[in-house]
Amino acid sequence: MAVFLSENASDTFDFAKEYAKTLRAGDVVLLYGEMGAGKTVFSKGVAKGMGIEDEVLSPTYAYMNDYSGKLYHFDCYRLSSGEQAEALGLCDYFYAGGVCLVEWAENISSALPENCRRVFINITPDGKREIIYE
Ligand SMILES: Nc1ncnc2c1ncn2[C@@H]1O[C@H](COP(=O)(O)OP(=O)(O)OP(=O)(O)O)[C@@H](O)[C@H]1O
Ligand SMILES: [Mg+2]
Repeated sequence: MAVFLSENASDTFDFAKEYAKTLRAGDVVLLYGEMGAGKTVFSKGVAKGMGIEDEVLSPTYAYMNDYSGKLYHFDCYRLSSGEQAEALGLCDYFYAGGVCLVEWAENISSALPENCRRVFINITPDGKREIIYE
C-alpha cells in the first residue's frame, strides 16, 4: 500500500486521473471512506483519466451508472446486503469487462468478487485527505 496526501478536491481528482493509468479492463476498485471523504471526486478523476468525457454524477439513486461499458460507477450506500445487490443484477457488472468503482462496498461485502483493488480515503484532522492505495 502507498499513501498520497491530498490537500484539496482537485488534488484528489488529479491523483485519481493518474491512478486510472494503472487500471486494466475488468478491475474492480473498492473505494472506502466516510461520507464526504471524496470517493465520488476520485471516481470523476478516474473517468477523466480513462478518457470518458461524460459528466460523472453520484449514482446514489440509480446504484450504478454505466459509462459506455468502459466504466461502471457504483454507490451501494442504500443497499443493505450482498443478496440485495445480487437480486438487483448489479453483481453481473463486476464480470462485464469494464472497470468498476464501488462506493460503500462494505454494504454488499458478500457479493464482491475476489481480488478487488482497494482505495481508502481518510479525512485528516486538518481536513485534508490521506489516500491509501495499492
Ligand atoms: N482533499 C480532498 N479530496 C476530495 N474531496 C475534498 C477534499 N477536500 C475537500 N473535499 C470536498 O469533500 C467533498 C467530497 O465529496 P464526495 O461526494 O466526493 O464524497 P463521497 O466520499 O463520495 O461521499 P458519499 O459517501 O456521500 O458518496 C466535496 O465537497 C469536495 O469538494
Ligand atoms: Mg459519493
